[in-house]
Amino acid sequence: MIASTPSRTNLSSAPHESIQTLTRFLKDVGHPTSLACLADQILFNFAELSRYPQGSLFQFEREHRRYRQIRTFGQVETVVTPSVMDIEHPLVHALSSRLHILNPAGPTLASQTEHSAATTDTLPSLHTVAIPLITHGTLIAFALLHSPAAQTALSSVTIGLLTAMAQGAANALDSLLIYEDLRQSQSLMRRTDRLRSLEIIAGGFAHEIRNPLTSIKTFVQLAPERKDDTQFIDEFSRIVLEDVNRIERLVQEILDYARYMEPQLTDENLNEIVTSCLYFIQVKADSRGIKIEKELAPELPRGMLDRQQIKQVLLNLLLNALDAIGEGPGSLRVRTHQFKKPDGTLFMQIDIEDTGQGIAPENLEHIFDPFFTTKHTSTMNAGTGLGLTIAHQIIQEHHGDIRVASAVGQGTTFRITLPALQQ
Ligand SMILES: Nc1ncnc2c1ncn2[C@@H]1O[C@H](COP(=O)(O)OP(=O)(O)OP(=O)(O)O)[C@@H](O)[C@H]1O
Ligand SMILES: [Mg+2]
Repeated sequence: MIASTPSRTNLSSAPHESIQTLTRFLKDVGHPTSLACLADQILFNFAELSRYPQGSLFQFEREHRRYRQIRTFGQVETVVTPSVMDIEHPLVHALSSRLHILNPAGPTLASQTEHSAATTDTLPSLHTVAIPLITHGTLIAFALLHSPAAQTALSSVTIGLLTAMAQGAANALDSLLIYEDLRQSQSLMRRTDRLRSLEIIAGGFAHEIRNPLTSIKTFVQLAPERKDDTQFIDEFSRIVLEDVNRIERLVQEILDYARYMEPQLTDENLNEIVTSCLYFIQVKADSRGIKIEKELAPELPRGMLDRQQIKQVLLNLLLNALDAIGEGPGSLRVRTHQFKKPDGTLFMQIDIEDTGQGIAPENLEHIFDPFFTTKHTSTMNAGTGLGLTIAHQIIQEHHGDIRVASAVGQGTTFRITLPALQQ
């Protein structure tokens, strides 16, 4: 509910002000940020034009075939209206069939005279005005405006202005609902995508743990008869421990991936995230004589990012780069810059460039696949091959893009593009 009340405008003496209210409303209503905000705007402006100080907005719920009160304005509790009305409700029926404002106090209006008796019957009180919001001949919502005391009839000018306002409101509400629908479908598609890749991952996981499981099984089978062979027991114990660790790491990575996490987007400075990631890897780079060059654009636009997820992506790329350079010498260059599409939309880009061993052309197309790894040795540092799969997924969920260019023996560059906040 909104707290403030609209200023009282005397319509008969100030039609100019009413037209200004209507014009301002039609201008503002084109950019609603949410359904609640739009509903507030609609109710506030209806109240301002009509001088009815209380109101509620009902929206059609397609799946339940009913209208539900989504927003109220003023002290509506004092007015008894149901918060849900099905399509058979007499008021809904009257609004859907007549498609114009129901105003019991205004039987003077020629178009309403014949309906005045029926109108009075359907409205919850004599001090109520019902305004339909219609698009494509369908009642998508309606507003009920109430007044605690008897009101003078709405003038035909006010009814005209309210009708125009209702049309603008209906169009805006319709667009917002279509947009919401689209957003929900996109989120559903992303979820489906993730489930599909989980299927691939489950298959890969089975394959990945088969080898370590075989070695553990062999050890358990052989151990009783070779329990006195200390060299065998020592060697195999070490291998088995590595294998168990590997399985543990795989399970953890899969759990991280499977847990569907909608990015928690906040207004962030990408340069700050990059700097904090570089801080983490600095010691490792120094110990191997790897030089880190940082070129961060000072005027980089901000972006809506999930800080933790972007950190996870960058750390994986940076660690991959260090792995590719190996014992050095080598260098790692990290650059950020902004990028504008011809249509004016702003993006930020980050390049992570290493002078490592590069990626063979036949591997390049597989590096984002789950479990693709060339770090397959049976050591504690063996990769799971999920790092880039997860990175790709995270960047996609930020509506961004990740690409790679590589030359064997020369190095690799990963480029991430992310949508930026318009400046
Ligand atoms: N900068 C790079 N230079 C060369 N090869 C790379 C680079 N980044 C990735 N790769 C190749 O892509 C493979 C997949 O990388 P990814 O990060 O998905 O898995 P990983 O590093 O092997 O394991 P994990 O990240 O799970 O520990 C790597 O094993 C490596 O062969
Ligand atoms: Mg990795």
